[in-house]
Amino acid sequence: MVLRPDSTSSAQGAITLPIDANRRLLNRYRFLEHEILQVLAGWMPAVGHFETKCEVGRTIWEGALRVNAFYLRLREIQSPAFQRPDDGAFVRLGGELRHAPNEQALVRGIYRVAFPALIKALADHETATFPNSDLPSVYAIKHALLDLRAQQERVLPLLAAAEAECADPTGAAAWERYIQALLDASGGVSGAGPRAAVPTPPPARRAFTPPREAARDARFTNRGADFAAMPPEEDHRAHTIEEFERYSTEMLAAETVAVVLYGLRDMPWEFHFDCARHLYDEVRHCLMGYEWMRRNGLDPFQSPQYLQVFRWRCQFPPVMQYCMLTMGNEVHAFPYRHRRVEAHEKSGDRLSEQFVRYDIADETQHVRFGHRWLPELLRHIGENRSVDAYTADVLQVWESQYRSGKLPLSVE
Ligand SMILES: [Fe+2]
Ligand SMILES: [Fe+2]
Repeated sequence: MVLRPDSTSSAQGAITLPIDANRRLLNRYRFLEHEILQVLAGWMPAVGHFETKCEVGRTIWEGALRVNAFYLRLREIQSPAFQRPDDGAFVRLGGELRHAPNEQALVRGIYRVAFPALIKALADHETATFPNSDLPSVYAIKHALLDLRAQQERVLPLLAAAEAECADPTGAAAWERYIQALLDASGGVSGAGPRAAVPTPPPARRAFTPPREAARDARFTNRGADFAAMPPEEDHRAHTIEEFERYSTEMLAAETVAVVLYGLRDMPWEFHFDCARHLYDEVRHCLMGYEWMRRNGLDPFQSPQYLQVFRWRCQFPPVMQYCMLTMGNEVHAFPYRHRRVEAHEKSGDRLSEQFVRYDIADETQHVRFGHRWLPELLRHIGENRSVDAYTADVLQVWESQYRSGKLPLSVE
């Protein structure tokens, strides 16, 4: 931003950042964050590098919190609160991010170009606006900056470490330059900078199609094992090891929510907000499994990944996947989880007991999300069956194909 508060002119009542410019800027930040979180949800299953995938999940959730903070402010100063920026070059940037040639290119464009530019625009805005009259914006911006800067500190070293394994470093570098050029063509995130010519896409650009396979990096060697019977709960130690190994595979649930979020981009914002949290909760459950296994001398990268579950779910439309997850997997887990809390308490295993109790708290929210959104989702897709009838039909598929462990795949 070029506008800077000037103490002399401010004393004379000069305008620093006028309210119309303010809302145009906030709208651009909201738009860019919103595009990024949707693109990351679309890509998340296809991101192989484990630590990057976890960060992508976190960015989706934290990005949703920032979109929501800007939304809460924007709805006070513009109507409707969600508006497509009146700037074709900037909208083009948002639309292009998803067409990255590979995961390295994707994350370089987002974390090394888009987010640093957003941080710069927010930092300028923070000091350019009226500190008292526009305090609600300043408050949102200060908190966004805190998270975005912390994110850069976590993610940039990860990107540098993963770079050595990039299959196409030339294509990834060309893509990063392209995203920078698109940003330059829109005058930066603020739109106030000089505007370069709109660039032509590099040859590496690949039109994005949502993945139907979940990617894992080379450290995972056990990808498609069948579900084995778990040791009986009476065999406490053996069962507990398996219990937390299963937690370590909950990335599959996060990836399913990502498919739902991306596949239902035209649902109301509040749905995406809940999905973003749901998605990152599942990443956290996966990481909880990792933490437990490592504390117990086990290597979570050796856990079976059951990638056929993702492939199987992707045969069904997003609303059906959401219904199977919330009304199938999540609703039915509670009696077992409560038994596990009791068993861990009885054995004096405080860590396991606490982990499962936090999981129960999250899962209670996920079932609430399911009950809240299924009626709206069915209306959204023009489904004529009642919620109960639709759920019963979906659960029949879930019972016969998933719970039985057969997971048949339709021939395509
Ligand atoms: Fe979970
Ligand atoms: Fe869940």
